Amino acid sequence: MKIKNIYTTLLLAFALMNCTFDSPDDLIEVTEIPEGEMISYNNHVKIIIDNNCLNCHSMPPQNGAPMGLVNYQQVRNAVENRGLIGLISTQDLSEVMPLGGPRLPQNLIDIIVQWQLDGFIE
Ligand code: HEC
Repeated sequence: MKIKNIYTTLLLAFALMNCTFDSPDDLIEVTEIPEGEMISYNNHVKIIIDNNCLNCHSMPPQNGAPMGLVNYQQVRNAVENRGLIGLISTQDLSEVMPLGGPRLPQNLIDIIVQWQLDGFIE
C-alpha cells in the first residue's frame, strides 16, 4: 500500500469513528444544513431546543411552562399537539417562544419546520 493510500484509509476510519461516537460535547449549534441532508432530532433539533427552551421547559418545567421539552417524544408531541411551530414562528412578541423573545433566527425555525416535513426522524 502506498503511503498516500494509508493516509486516506486512516482519515476515512477517523471520519467514520467520529460519526459513530458522536458525544453531546461534539454538538455545536446548527446554522446551515448541507443540501439533501435529512433533519433529525438528535443531530439538529435537540441542540436548538436545549439552548433556547430548557430554561423553562425543563423537567420539571419552570417559570409556568406547562410541559418539558427534554426528549424526542416531548418535542415531537409539542409540534403535533401544542402548536410549537406556530409559537416559534409568530411575529407576535407577546406569545412568541422563547417566551419574552427574541424570536429564534429564521434558519433555526426552518430546521424545525423541515424536521416535521422529513417525518420526525429521531
Ligand atoms: C422564559 C420561559 C420560557 C421559555 C424560554 C420558553 N417557553 Fe414555551 N412556554 C412558557 C410558558 C410560561 C408557557 C405557557 C404560557 C403561555 O402559553 O404563554 C409556554 C408554552 C409553550 C407552548 C404551548 C404549550 C401548550 O400546550 O399551550 C409551546 C409549544 C412552547 N412553550 C414551546 C417553547 C419552545 C419551542 C421554546 C424554545 C424555542 C420555549 N417554549 C421557550 C415559557 C417559556
